[in-house]
Amino acid sequence: MKIKKPSTIRGMNDLLPEVIATWRHLEKIIIKIVESYGFSEIRLPLLERTELFQRSIGADTDIVEKEMYTFKDRNEKSITLRPEATASMARAAITNGLLHNQQQKLWTMGPMFRYEKPQKGRYRQFYQFNIEAMGFSGPDIDAEIIIMCARMWRLLNLKNLRLEINSLGSGDTRKLYRNELITYFTKYKNNLDENSLKRLESNPLRILDSKNPDMRSIISNAPVMLDYLDPESKKDFEVLKKLLDGSGVKYEVNPRLVRGLDYYNKTVFEWITDDLGAQGAVCSGGRYDGLIEKLGGRSTPAIGWAMGIERLVSLYEVDNKRIENLKPYFYLVTDGNPALLKGFELAEEIRNNFPKNAIQMNMGAGSFKSQLKRADKSQAIYAIIIGEEEIENNTIGLKSLRAKGDQVEIHFDNIISEIKCIVE
Ligand code: HAM
Repeated sequence: MKIKKPSTIRGMNDLLPEVIATWRHLEKIIIKIVESYGFSEIRLPLLERTELFQRSIGADTDIVEKEMYTFKDRNEKSITLRPEATASMARAAITNGLLHNQQQKLWTMGPMFRYEKPQKGRYRQFYQFNIEAMGFSGPDIDAEIIIMCARMWRLLNLKNLRLEINSLGSGDTRKLYRNELITYFTKYKNNLDENSLKRLESNPLRILDSKNPDMRSIISNAPVMLDYLDPESKKDFEVLKKLLDGSGVKYEVNPRLVRGLDYYNKTVFEWITDDLGAQGAVCSGGRYDGLIEKLGGRSTPAIGWAMGIERLVSLYEVDNKRIENLKPYFYLVTDGNPALLKGFELAEEIRNNFPKNAIQMNMGAGSFKSQLKRADKSQAIYAIIIGEEEIENNTIGLKSLRAKGDQVEIHFDNIISEIKCIVE
């Protein structure tokens, strides 16, 4: 019977070696930047109690309603693969007592899981880089974490990212605005699509997020949140805009930006690109002043953002070359057991002396011809050759694989000093 080849689960991708160098390059720069702003790394479990996400993201959101990977563990407890990291960060801050008279600036990175319809830029397992600043009431920190993004785009040579900002106001603003929206949309009840009708009572703000073109004109005439802002939120939003102006960070106020998670208040924002088709949100975030208290911690204002690393990498590749993996500098070819023994010794010596220059040893023997073919395929710059003759003469052969010219013989005693001349 023929065995069916295994495949990945839909929307969950292998990241092959050829893309990893770019991923690492971006991650390295981002980590450097966020740490230069005082953020420290925290690593969190991939699994949390389902209830954590239901309470923080909101029971009526797309994520909780239909996108979570939720199952019972062997103890019949409902657990969920994290669809995002903010809820887990807030949970970790409470669990570990990180918030008692303290401020925390934390970053984390890793896979998130959402049962969405996969398409380019949208996956069921995707990676986020996430920062959270807890214990800060803003709007200074709001500006700082946005300005930090602008620095990243500059240093990563990412172009075509625009910033949209909005304020969702306080809890009271939201209540007031929610009622206004219900009154407004109820007038058009017969024209609402099924999804919006469902949201009318449970979460009318989410109607504003609808992508259905038939809903566009009703939505564009709906009341605007910014007209209902409480004085404090209004003032904070003005200061945020001034700080962004002062730092030369351009933005657009989008009064329809509501974000798909329930925990937000006041500042929300998205960095969007038009270079990646439909999935253009590269980095999104906002303030969540009520979340930590709602989860059982003491009242702590907080703000953060998360960026999708797949989208970041795709955008990077629009304007920049893919970064190549490190190629071996030397490929070591041997013939016979004494040469193999000497080869092992020499390879380690080269690694000790030149840790930045990778050396790959031929494994699995083979004729000189086939070994040199592999050497060429490895894209190494030089082949080091040790055969019977070299062992007899206490030498190695060094052959350039990238330039014409004869093989040169180097005495064992001089290998490191002569290689030094080539490498440096
Ligand atoms: P989010 O908008 O749901 O926010 O996700 C943040 C970013 O993750 C998006 O802008 C996008 O780049 C990426 N992303 C989301 N879903 C997918 C997917 N299915 N495939 C690929 N990339 C995706 C949050 O997760 C909030 N926790 C952000 C936050 C942090 N707010 C405050 N602190």
